[in-house]
Amino acid sequence: MTIVLGSPRVDPERYRVLLSSDAEVVTSAQALHSFLDDHPDELLAVIAPEVTMPVASAVADRYRLNRPDLGIIMMRERIDTEIVTAALRSGIRDVVSIDDVEGITAAVRRSQNFSNQLRGAMGSTIDVEAGKVIMVFGAKGGCGKTTIATNLAESLAKLNRGRVCIVDLDLDFGDVAIFLKLDPAVTISRAVQFEGELDATHVRSLITPYAENLDALLAPAKPAEAEFITPDIAMNIIDVLRTMYSFIVLDTPPSFAEVTLRSFEKADSYILVTTLDLPSLKNIKVAMETLDALGYPRSRWHVVLNRAGSDVGLGQGDVEEVLGIPVTTAIPSSRDVPATLNTGTTLVADNPEHPVSKAIFALAITEAGAPVQREVSKPSLWAKFRRKS
Ligand SMILES: Nc1ncnc2c1ncn2[C@@H]1O[C@H](COP(=O)(O)OP(=O)(O)O)[C@@H](O)[C@H]1O
Ligand SMILES: [Mg+2]
Repeated sequence: MTIVLGSPRVDPERYRVLLSSDAEVVTSAQALHSFLDDHPDELLAVIAPEVTMPVASAVADRYRLNRPDLGIIMMRERIDTEIVTAALRSGIRDVVSIDDVEGITAAVRRSQNFSNQLRGAMGSTIDVEAGKVIMVFGAKGGCGKTTIATNLAESLAKLNRGRVCIVDLDLDFGDVAIFLKLDPAVTISRAVQFEGELDATHVRSLITPYAENLDALLAPAKPAEAEFITPDIAMNIIDVLRTMYSFIVLDTPPSFAEVTLRSFEKADSYILVTTLDLPSLKNIKVAMETLDALGYPRSRWHVVLNRAGSDVGLGQGDVEEVLGIPVTTAIPSSRDVPATLNTGTTLVADNPEHPVSKAIFALAITEAGAPVQREVSKPSLWAKFRRKS
C-alpha cells in the first residue's frame, strides 16, 4: 500500500498502475499525517502534481527529523531546476515527471532501498553496546573540521537515535569548548588521575553536558596539559564512550599525530574534509594515500567539500578528479557560519533551514543510516607508521 497526497480529482487507479502497488489517495496534509501516524511501518509517501510546493515542503519538513526512514517522492507535470532544488532542500527524496513511468518505478525502488538500509542501520545504532565512532579529519587547519564536527554532532542528536558525544581530540589547540561556549572546567585532562583502568563512571566524570542528547568531552584548557593524555588513554576513553553513546564524533588536529592515526584505527567512519584550494586538496590526497597504505577500508571514507561554490576557479568536479572518489557532501560557504560562533550555538540548532545546516543534516542522516563495518585493519602496515616512543 502506498499513500498518495493529491486532490479529490485524482484517480487512485492511475496511481495503482504508476506505482505498481495498491494506492490510497488522501486529499489533505492532515489526512496524510493521520494515515502515517496509524502506519508507522510505511516507508513511502507520494505527492501528486497538483499539491503546491509549500504544502509539499511542509510535509517533507515534518518527517525529515522525526521519521527519516520515510521517503517522500514528489510528482510534477513539468520539472525544472528550481522545483528540484526546492524539493531536495526540504528533504523530498526525488522529483519525477508524472509521465515518466520508468523514472517513477526507479525512484520508488531507490527510495525503498534507502529506507530499508536506514531502518536496518537505525535498529543497530540504537544498540549502545557498539556506538558508532565518526571521525572528522582534515589535513589542513581552518578547513572547517570543528564547524562540521559540532554541527554534525548536533544533527545526530536531533535525529533522536540515541545519545551523542563530541570528543575534542585536538588536544593542544582544541576549540570545541569555544564553538559551543562551554566552560572548560572539566576536560579530558582529568583522565590522568585514573591510572590504568578506565570505566564508565570515570569517563562520565569527564563529560560536559551540552544539549538534549548531546554531551562534550573537551580538550585540555592549557596545551601544557595535553602531553599527559597519551594516545592509549584517549583510545581507552573512546572504547568506554562506545558503551555509553550511540554516536561518538571525534574532532581531530590537522596532522597525523599519533592520536589521529590511532583514531583512524578505531573509527567506523571518516569525514575527510577539504576545501577548494590546492594545499588542502594536496594534503587530503596524501592523507588518503596513507589511509590506503594502512589498509583502512574505503567504505569508511566520506569526502566532504567545505566552502563549496567559493569562486576560486576549482570546482567539485576537479576535487573528485584529483581525489579519485566522489564527494559525499558539499557544504556551501556562508558568512553565517563564522557569525554563529558569537552565539555559542551551532548553525543547525540556530537555523535548521540554512543551506549549510541542511547539507550537514543530510550528512548526519547518511551517517546514521550507513551500516557499520568493523573489519580489522592490517596491524603490520600500521606499525610502520606508528611513531616510535
Ligand atoms: N562553510 C563555511 N562557510 C564560511 N566559513 C566557514 C565555513 N566553514 C568554516 N568556516 C569558518 O572557517 C574558520 C575555520 O573553521 P574551523 O571549523 O575552526 O576549522 P578547523 O577546525 O578545520 O581548523 C572558522 O572561522 C569558521 O567559522
Ligand atoms: Mg578545529
